[in-house]
Amino acid sequence: MTAAAPMPHNRRPDRCPFRPHPVLERLRDDPELPRVRTSNPQLGEFDAVLVTRPDEVRQVLADPRYEAGFAFDRTGPRTVMNQPGILLNYDGDEHTHYRRMLSGAFTVKRVRSLAPAIRRVVDDRLDALEQAGPGADLIERFAGPVPLLVICELLGVPVEDRDGIQRRSAIGTDVANSLQTQLENFAAMAAYMGDLVRRQRAEPGDDILGDLIRRHGGELSDDELIGMGNSILVAGHETVSSMIGLSTLALLRDPDQLAVVRDDESAATGAVEELLRLLAVAPPLVRQADSDLELGGRPVKAGERVLLSTLAAHHDTGLVADEPGRLDVRRKTVAHLAFGFGAHQCIGQQLARLELQIALPALLRRLPGLRLAVDFDAVEYRDDALVFGVARLPVTW
Ligand code: HEM
Repeated sequence: MTAAAPMPHNRRPDRCPFRPHPVLERLRDDPELPRVRTSNPQLGEFDAVLVTRPDEVRQVLADPRYEAGFAFDRTGPRTVMNQPGILLNYDGDEHTHYRRMLSGAFTVKRVRSLAPAIRRVVDDRLDALEQAGPGADLIERFAGPVPLLVICELLGVPVEDRDGIQRRSAIGTDVANSLQTQLENFAAMAAYMGDLVRRQRAEPGDDILGDLIRRHGGELSDDELIGMGNSILVAGHETVSSMIGLSTLALLRDPDQLAVVRDDESAATGAVEELLRLLAVAPPLVRQADSDLELGGRPVKAGERVLLSTLAAHHDTGLVADEPGRLDVRRKTVAHLAFGFGAHQCIGQQLARLELQIALPALLRRLPGLRLAVDFDAVEYRDDALVFGVARLPVTW
């Protein structure tokens, strides 16, 4: 068995944010299941079996013997991930129990009904961007606020509280902050969510949190509702924000592709699927084998962790035969894994799609002269954040 190769969390090649890291490329062809030494903000440093092939990623995610909730320490200190109510902390029946309650709040009908609110949020942000410019950091002014404000709509956060949420979310996702700052910030986030839950219990609003309380308030403790609220906030903010930032950058690099998204309304759905595939912003997914198992005839021992790279899987010719590293917004949509697969598949995927389908064309149409204000090589990335993305995107128009 080969020694564990170091694999930095979320690193992508220098100045090429759209491709897997060279370590991933090299290990992809390893005939054994490679072992890597990696880290992430929740688990710290750990060894794991690396899985990069699309069929094997799918196989692991569909197999309940690879557990997701192994890292949940029920009696340990509470952090953004280590709290009750977070779906990824549960497996089996317990997971089904919580997931059913939350999925009732994310029905296709409810998500569709959010379209006017999303359009309003996007248009407001574009008005503010236009007034402040020309010239702005697109992450600060657009890619960050849009998904956060949409989640505020979802959770029924009053308008006057949104600046505070935005500030705390920015602190919570800035990896440069000290652990002490992160813990204090988390305590403030939990306290705010606790307040919101109590207000919503007294008077449930016409939003997802209100709905959850009306239907399941009797079965859920405040702690569980706070965890669910925080998980929606964390899972639904950074991911969509990163997708808006990286997608804009990818399109600015390729004016022909950008023109399709800007000028052809019918192209938005396919373009978003292609961007989700190419960019695969979710961090590598982690599971733990509950017994001795095998994958493609190769052993995975009980207790071993498995690291699943959707980015590597998306750039595998087993998924996309023709130039998987190229952006082609008219490409026939493939069954990508950007939202995971199996029991834990993203509960907010329809919402994420809708946000991207509205935000990207609206941005390109409102600012047809949009361009980078710095060299492409000078763009900075969030390599160490839970979700990979652009740190700052200076643009002008
Ligand atoms: C482009 C945006 C998004 C991407 C790429 C994304 C990706 C993912 C992935 C890969 C998973 C599976 C994790 C695993 O199996 O380990 C997941 C789960 C989840 N996502 Fe998303 N997500 C996005 C947006 C959202 C939004 C908008 C929300 C909610 C508002 C959301 C809420 C969740 C939740 C609650 C889970 C856990 C589901 C479970 O464990 O049953 N996500 N997401």
